Amino acid sequence: MLINTDQAADLLLNGEVIAVPTETVYGLAAVATNPEAIAKIFDIKKRPADNPLICHFYDIEQIRAYVTTMPANTLNLLHQFAPGPISFMLDLNETSPLRFATCGSQQVIARIPNHPLFLSIIKKCGLPVAAPSANTSGRVSPTSAEMVAADLGTKIPGIVDGGQCTIGIESTIVDARATESIQILRPGFIAANEIRKVLPHIEIISNGLKNEFITPGSRYRHYAPHTPVAIIKQIDEVLAFPGCALFLTLEALQSIPRNHLKTFTEQRIELISIGSLSSIENIARSFYRLISSVDQLHVKKAFFLATDFGDTSLGRALQNRVDKISGG
Ligand code: TXA
Ligand code: MG
Repeated sequence: MLINTDQAADLLLNGEVIAVPTETVYGLAAVATNPEAIAKIFDIKKRPADNPLICHFYDIEQIRAYVTTMPANTLNLLHQFAPGPISFMLDLNETSPLRFATCGSQQVIARIPNHPLFLSIIKKCGLPVAAPSANTSGRVSPTSAEMVAADLGTKIPGIVDGGQCTIGIESTIVDARATESIQILRPGFIAANEIRKVLPHIEIISNGLKNEFITPGSRYRHYAPHTPVAIIKQIDEVLAFPGCALFLTLEALQSIPRNHLKTFTEQRIELISIGSLSSIENIARSFYRLISSVDQLHVKKAFFLATDFGDTSLGRALQNRVDKISGG
């Protein structure tokens, strides 16, 4: 059921779990200080019990009220990028009410989302709101209210429809607590070089081409549709699998010679363009929607043609998501 922001805040304050829009992906929200509500999120998502939840705040002052200190580098980045698609690891005090949301960890990942509806809901609640992506664990993150409804619609009392997410992949997660270096824990829309512009003298440690998350969530298969997806290196490899689907960039699609295209048609192979490499922002925005749409094609198997998304943060973030949909 679609609900407005007043209804959303009421439900949240009553300990319910609802779906909310953010600029990255839709979130499955509960008041972060309410242990029963937090437990419902784990239940609904079937999320492993040791995988902590990102907490969302209305502004910097609200974050300050929950953390032991606000480190200088973190504050600088917050001033530059918040509200926005970036999350920060911060220290909680020992008796913090957020420690159910963090699965007992003394660190919280805090984010100020850049979506007017979600911000107004947090403000109305007056409390931080925990929200992992609004999908069953291991499934594709939703980027529209329709995608949330298809996966979790029967399990939650309401969805706030904020339209299509403008960014489409999860936030960059950084640990900017130290004075000398910043760690990128999860690649996302905000790139290392944008962080470098704000803090030119600080070393930035990203996980480079390996794309390894060091957040707990990294241990699990992620972002996958029901249809199994495998990565292939050469386009012709799919010809051995009649009736499959192939995701590829527009450039790769256009590189198939015309007379060769009919071989794919004869083999009933669905070619699905993920968009042009000239705008990986556009690829990111529609990525999860396209990937999950493969389930509607009722093919037994899907493939993803390996692509060089480039060595930018968003390129690495996309590569990371592609690796995850194929299970590794
Ligand atoms: O863009 C986003 O960040 C979206 C929207 C809804 O805000 N949220 C999101 O949450 O992606 P989730 O739960 O799907 O991913 C959070 C990641 C997980 O890998 C989790 O393990 C890690 O962050 N994480 C959360 N809290 C943590 C903590 N206290 N310590 C270490 N890792 C944490
Ligand atoms: Mg997620």
